[in-house]
Amino acid sequence: MRTPLSTLAALAAVALLAAGDGPAGAQSATPATAAGDNSHGFVSATRFGQRDGAALYAAICAGCHMPNGRGAVGAGMYPALAGNTKLEAAAYPVQVVVNGLRGMPGFATQLDDAQIAAVVNWVRSNLGNDYRADPARPEDVRAARQ
Ligand code: HEC
Repeated sequence: MRTPLSTLAALAAVALLAAGDGPAGAQSATPATAAGDNSHGFVSATRFGQRDGAALYAAICAGCHMPNGRGAVGAGMYPALAGNTKLEAAAYPVQVVVNGLRGMPGFATQLDDAQIAAVVNWVRSNLGNDYRADPARPEDVRAARQ
């Protein structure tokens, strides 16, 4: 678990550096870090800026569960989210993303209620999953916070 997460952090740091270190001409017209521009993915060093489920998945979950959601076995075991029947009820993935599960860290402090609902609903209705009934709501996420 340490490796993918630290890799993500390292990639993010590189992206942040790159964003602030582009050609001076291009940067001066439209600064990459203008307020409201979430293209680099972080609004601070400790929170993610994406609001959209697909973008959140790509930025956070894909590093361990893989972009196609099929998981991986290597230094650890990263279960597949693709075709995973445990995603049928929203409460389970909400609980996992908020509080973590053994080798998976929780994201309670890095994501707000709406972001967690968005990424949970995205994995429930993508990656070969079609669980669109009873989507997770921000208030469900709030209730899962300990
Ligand atoms: C640092 C690696 C890592 C990241 C990042 C990560 N996960 Fe996980 N996830 C895991 C591991 C490892 C497990 C298995 C935990 C266990 O059972 O011991 C897991 C388990 C899960 C499960 C339970 C699957 C099951 O079959 O019980 C869900 C749901 C899940 N992750 C969703 C997500 C979502 C959504 C994100 C992005 C917000 C995410 N994970 C980010 C490593 C990660």
